[in-house]
This record gives sequence, structure tokens and C-alpha cells, in this order.
Amino acid sequence: MEILGIDIGGSGIKGAPVDIENGTLQAERLRLDTPQPSVPEAVGDTVAEIVRRFNWQGPIGCTFPAVVKHGVTLTAANVDKAWLNFNGQKLFEAKTGCPVLLLNDADAAGIAEMEFGAGKGEAGVVIMLTFGTGIGSAIFVDGRLVPNTEFGHMEVRGKDAEHRAADRIRTEKDLSWEKWAERVNEFLGRMEALFSPDLFIIGGGVSKKHEKFLPFLKTQARIVPAQMLNEAGIIGAALAAKVLVR
Ligand code: BGC
Repeated sequence: MEILGIDIGGSGIKGAPVDIENGTLQAERLRLDTPQPSVPEAVGDTVAEIVRRFNWQGPIGCTFPAVVKHGVTLTAANVDKAWLNFNGQKLFEAKTGCPVLLLNDADAAGIAEMEFGAGKGEAGVVIMLTFGTGIGSAIFVDGRLVPNTEFGHMEVRGKDAEHRAADRIRTEKDLSWEKWAERVNEFLGRMEALFSPDLFIIGGGVSKKHEKFLPFLKTQARIVPAQMLNEAGIIGAALAAKVLVR
């Protein structure tokens, strides 16, 4: 069965129909720029444009880079503040005419990795972290997600962890991979002290360059790169939206 997966990020909105039995894209991924400012109305129009281009009618799973509860976006760290306490799910349903399930972007990426990627068959405590504009997180206990964890906003040295260790900071401050890895290590150390995970999965934009920084990361838990790269959000969103079908 196919479900349309859409992944909303700070700079791009990507979508493709996904075969939810095997987690593969059924058509080439379409990417449109995220409108700036990223106000709900404009983002909704872009989502509707993706749906139109695939000529899609049916359930849609859609990510958003924020806490999402019952369709409502409760935070807005890297998007327009108009998303605070806004029912994004309802807006996308109205714009597309399709049933929509809205969920956090890192939760979606984690769901995809646990089902088909680096976390497949992993029991115990698994923490997925995505490093991009911000730091996203998802934690799984024996394969079950605890949603909306937001570890990227944990305080490290008086700042949000993502303001020290997101991939955006590495590029903005022109940090070497080793210097950036020191910051990431500090954050991972805090995660270990609190959760004693069995496995870390490192995802987000940087995961395709993992050979540059993974050798510098020091954790007691095993640490592996994500495998689904920039398709994880689309695939995980589609998988999560299975609930709309049952
Ligand atoms: C947001 C999270 C999101 C992460 C990655 C953070 O700033 O608060 O909800 O998962 O960025 O996009």
C-alpha cells in the first residue's frame, strides 16, 4: 500500500509516495523551497502543490520541525512563530482535501530507521539524533517511540544544545569536523548520563558525511550513522500515517 510522505524542513519541503510495506519511494522525490517567511498559509500552499504534482488522493503523513500533539504544533524553534499553538494538521487537510497525520520530523526519521534502517531489530533504548539546522531527537524503548523528546533544546553550557552543536553551527562558525565533534561529544555525554542508551543513530544532513566525524565521537553505547539519509523523514511520515488507514 502507498501513502504520500512529506517532510517539511526549514529550507525545503520534500515529498514522494512511499510503499509502506518495504519503505521504498514509488516515484522520484520532489523538493520545493520552504516559503520565507515560513508562515502556515504559504507552507500549506506548498504542501498542496506537492500533493497536486503527484496527483495524490489518499492519506498523507507529514513531518514538521516542532513538537506536534494531536495535529497542533506547539513550538517553533526554526520556523515562523505563527506556528505556535497552531493546528497544522487541520490546515493541511483543508489545503489538500486529504486526511493528514502530522508528526515531529526527528520522530518520523527515527520511525523509518527503526523499521528499515540502522535501528532495524534493535531492542533496548535507542536514541536517534538528527543534526541539521537544529538537533532533532527520537527515543525508542524496545522499538516503541516516546514522541516529542526535544533533546536538542537541552541546556549545555548555558545554551540550547542545538545552538552549540547543530550542523548549522559547524558551517556558520567554520568549525573543523574534530572541533564540532567535541561539541557533539559533550551533548552525547549528557544524553548517556541521563538515559544510558544501547545505541545512538546519527542522522540528518551530516549523516552522509559520517566518515568525517564518527571516528571522533566517543560514547559507551554503540553509535552508527543513519542509513536512509534524506529520505528518512518522508518514509517515516508515510509509515506513521498507516493509522489513518485502519
Ligand atoms: C525542533 C525540533 C526538531 C529539530 C530538528 C528543533 O529545533 O525544536 O522539534 O525536531 O529542530 O528539525
